[in-house]
Amino acid sequence: MIIGSRAAERARDVAAEIGHGVEGADNAETARRSDVVIVAVPWEGHAKTLESLREELAGKLVVDCVNPLGFDKKGAYALKPEEGSAAEQAAALLPDSRVAAAFHHLSAVLLKDTSIEEIDTDVMVLGEERADVEIVQALAGRIAGMRGVFAGRLRNAHQVESLVANLISVNRRYKAHAGLRVTDI
Ligand SMILES: NC(=O)c1ccc[n+]([C@@H]2O[C@H](COP(=O)([O-])OP(=O)(O)OC[C@H]3O[C@@H](n4cnc5c(N)ncnc54)[C@H](OP(=O)(O)O)[C@@H]3O)[C@@H](O)[C@H]2O)c1
Repeated sequence: MIIGSRAAERARDVAAEIGHGVEGADNAETARRSDVVIVAVPWEGHAKTLESLREELAGKLVVDCVNPLGFDKKGAYALKPEEGSAAEQAAALLPDSRVAAAFHHLSAVLLKDTSIEEIDTDVMVLGEERADVEIVQALAGRIAGMRGVFAGRLRNAHQVESLVANLISVNRRYKAHAGLRVTDI
């Protein structure tokens, strides 16, 4: 696994902290050397980052987990991207890549906590191609407690991205790192 950054040195420092053979590189090298690339940058940098990596990401499976959110004194709220969602913006900017979307609701705090053995949540996976969705579901399934669930095509990504604003409200009220479960499947 390779962690990308705008600054290779920053990525290498974080990779060394994580260990387990994780490498660090700049974003372009990370994209070039990977088959599956998870995009986890703030919404403000989303379009610019993808545009700059169009060539390196050609032919790759790009998994977008970006939530376009605004914040004001009332809390978090969902923004409405022109393309419909961050995932659809990625698909528009990366015509030669396969774009899927997932991991929007996953807490970075829980992921980073090495004392936690299981993360009790489902991961909604959106995509156009069944084979790509299955790759992302398998990725989610590698984390104990987690399950990847197909949740529709990219045109329905907006609701999934937006739901994070609701989860942030939940987290603030209940002092939690809330996840989601889809029942009866
Ligand atoms: N945090 C969570 O729990 C969580 C969960 C699910 C989804 N997400 C989504 O994942 C994305 C990243 O969230 P985060 O909490 O990891 O945010 P973050 O820590 O602010 O950003 C992640 C990394 O993106 C790079 N970055 C920052 N500004 C950038 C810009 N303008 N252009 C390009 N790269 C930039 C930075 O790396 P370098 O400076 O090293 O390049 C930074 O370390 C967000 O869209 C968020 O909605 C977050």
